[in-house]
Amino acid sequence: MRRLLVTGGAGFIGSNFVHHVVAHTDDHVTVLDKLTYAGNRASLDGLPEDRVSFVQGDIADAGLVDGLFADADAVVHYAAESHNDNSLHDPRPFLDTNIIGTYTLLEAARRHDVRFHHISTDEVYGDLELDDPARFTESTPYNPSSPYSSTKAGSDLLVRAWVRSFGVQATISNCSNNYGPYQHVEKFIPRQITNVIRGIRPKLYGAGENVRDWIHADDHSSAVLTILDAGVIGETYLIGADGEKNNKDVVELILGIMGQPTDAYDHVTDRAGHDLRYAIDSTRLRTELGWQPRYSDFEAGLAATIDWYRANEAWWAPAKDATEAFYATKGQ
Ligand code: NAD
Ligand code: DAU
Repeated sequence: MRRLLVTGGAGFIGSNFVHHVVAHTDDHVTVLDKLTYAGNRASLDGLPEDRVSFVQGDIADAGLVDGLFADADAVVHYAAESHNDNSLHDPRPFLDTNIIGTYTLLEAARRHDVRFHHISTDEVYGDLELDDPARFTESTPYNPSSPYSSTKAGSDLLVRAWVRSFGVQATISNCSNNYGPYQHVEKFIPRQITNVIRGIRPKLYGAGENVRDWIHADDHSSAVLTILDAGVIGETYLIGADGEKNNKDVVELILGIMGQPTDAYDHVTDRAGHDLRYAIDSTRLRTELGWQPRYSDFEAGLAATIDWYRANEAWWAPAKDATEAFYATKGQ
């Protein structure tokens, strides 16, 4: 039985990964999570106690991290400050967690010679024009736009340096936008779904032409397990499921699925420095490691996600009012 340490396992993608690991492997998972505003212990409810243990703490706490690495066979590092809008308002926590936190984990991986997988984002590559036939690949130059994406880019470069300089057994994956259950209501899709449930009109930044490349969080999880098992040390793998959609189309889909007029949304103040388009070419992961996404129908995955938010109001309601109050101060 492999002992996995999962940082950020009470967050959106980390908790989806823990559920996926319990369902598809015999691994034991220890979650290390600080439970910031974005972490929710309830996202791990229902998982068997003999398979999952939980430690509340900071990835930048070197003493705590050292003890946990001593008992782990592999580490999957999801913990981060993850929201672009917050990084425009207060960048400091992004530096503390995404840079210093990742550095702290890498030093522990070096001391304990533990297999380390670093979770990153396609945003490190900057953005593409709407009509550009190119998509991001593993050799696209880094060109991050926001405080969030620049700290993720910095963390990726730290991982590469620790592999080359100290022989740390690490891999990196850069994934596109995830959707699915357990995503915080600050993010685009859950914000609009919970707005409609509450009778608030969805809010589209600017003209809504920005394109994101959507992947279901469960497909992200299966890709990460594949890389953990078969990835080549020192290498980077891009994860994506050919899910490009512009924001306006996504809002209209949500409204349609939820039985509302498809034009019942507001255009609000655009995000500063708003990246125009992300698009992933995941050929390498598919051809070299044989991974395939399972959720090929975005509309069906979105409908299931809407059902989840309808059935789990107790999970998201405590964060909703404060999130909307914050957006209101920005005209969003
Ligand atoms: P999230 O904000 O939902 O969750 C982050 C989790 O990390 C929370 O549980 C939080 O409590 C925890 N955390 C934050 N700071 C911590 C610290 N100092 N110590 C310990 N725990 C801490 O984020 P998410 O959307 O699940 O993203 C997870 C990872 O995936 C991030 O590294 C992000 O960059 C990456 N990523 C996200 C997406 C996406 O679409 N959401 C896509 C690609 C990559
Ligand atoms: O590409 C991967 C990235 O995807 C991850 O690295 C980030 O952690 C994750 O948050 C996500 O970043 P985005 O900035 O793309 O996601 P967000 O959900 O904040 O916004 C998606 C798009 O929707 C973006 O173009 C901004 C727009 N938007 C967002 C909100 C919250 C709106 O139009 N209205 C909104 O209310």
